[in-house]
Amino acid sequence: MLRRLHHTQPDSFAFTPDNLAWATAQLTKYPEGREASAIIPLLWRAQEQEGWLSKPALEYVADMLGMAYIRALEVASFYFMFQMQPTGSIAHVQVCGTTSCMICGAESLIAVCQEMIAANPHDVSEDGNFSWEEVECLGACSNAPMVQIGKDFYEDLTPDMLRDILTRLGKGEVPVPGPQNGRYGCEPAGGAVVLADYESGKTQYNASVQLATDIGETVKRIDGSEVPLTAPWTDRGGRPRNGETPVEPMTAAKQAAAEKAAKPAKAAAKKPAAKKPAPKAEVAKAAPKVDATPTDDVAEKKPRTMTAPRKAGADDLKQLKGVGPKLETTLNEMGFWHFDQIAKWDDAAVAWVDSRLKFKGRIIRDGWIDQAKALAAGEETEFSKRVQKGGVYKDK
Ligand code: FES
Repeated sequence: MLRRLHHTQPDSFAFTPDNLAWATAQLTKYPEGREASAIIPLLWRAQEQEGWLSKPALEYVADMLGMAYIRALEVASFYFMFQMQPTGSIAHVQVCGTTSCMICGAESLIAVCQEMIAANPHDVSEDGNFSWEEVECLGACSNAPMVQIGKDFYEDLTPDMLRDILTRLGKGEVPVPGPQNGRYGCEPAGGAVVLADYESGKTQYNASVQLATDIGETVKRIDGSEVPLTAPWTDRGGRPRNGETPVEPMTAAKQAAAEKAAKPAKAAAKKPAAKKPAPKAEVAKAAPKVDATPTDDVAEKKPRTMTAPRKAGADDLKQLKGVGPKLETTLNEMGFWHFDQIAKWDDAAVAWVDSRLKFKGRIIRDGWIDQAKALAAGEETEFSKRVQKGGVYKDK
């Protein structure tokens, strides 16, 4: 749409005495020489007075602010809230035609405007009372379709509702703005599904505040002693999901009781366990210590090494998870070529090898010895299968 001066212009413009007093007062808000900063409020007031911005109005405001006329026109033609042509004496109707409103019936509202006001947007109705235009989203999408009339939104409209509103405005009435279908605000059309407890008086506060007051503690820092507030099948407010049994939210009293109950267990956990040798079978089953560090306190002892692989050739040590091409070379240089060599390592041997590796602890962490035992016995591991298939190392 072209935004330019209208082809028909009035002869003059002047603020009413009240508006002039208001406009003059606005100028005191800005430093001397910066009065142009008041351009938008003054143009807006001129539009409020006349219903639109005429050429004389633009010139009048520009003169007040010591601006070139073209600069006032630039501002007025840039912002769509400024009307560059005459509007209806009662109201200018702005129909939102953007996505939500469009799919909810904006086109039928536009049809009403065409029928009751004028066939084309920005044309004034024959009686001079109304004009209309289609505008971009006005930010009331949850209440689509909607129109802005004057400063207010009329939402959740049907064509009949808009017809009624225009008729009543024409009679001098002021229909109540807002949702026209009984909604209070922008809650779902089928009724509120959030804050429902508050609405129904079941809880005193909104969900976040209610939870905070239920717990009864706001500034306590997280220290690891927390217990889950609710079972996993409830939401944070303790309400059941999927219709399952509700679980009471954790209250301050429950929290205290849970902490008290947890104390003996913690105390027991702190006491060093009596050193009782574990049965051999259990030791054999025990998983490798993931966090184990090199056995610094274990005396190193060099295991048996070889100067070269056996005649049949070296084993592919890369089939041990944790041993890559570089480590394989390192192991070969130390004198380890075969799985059965590694399978025989005891703690002292592990300590010896470990101290010669760049990253200590990996022998235990990656379970080399168990892997080596299996591979030496002709078995396969998941990892060795992948290596053999060429899925791990490219040069394999
Ligand atoms: S799409 Fe109409 S108000 Fe947002």
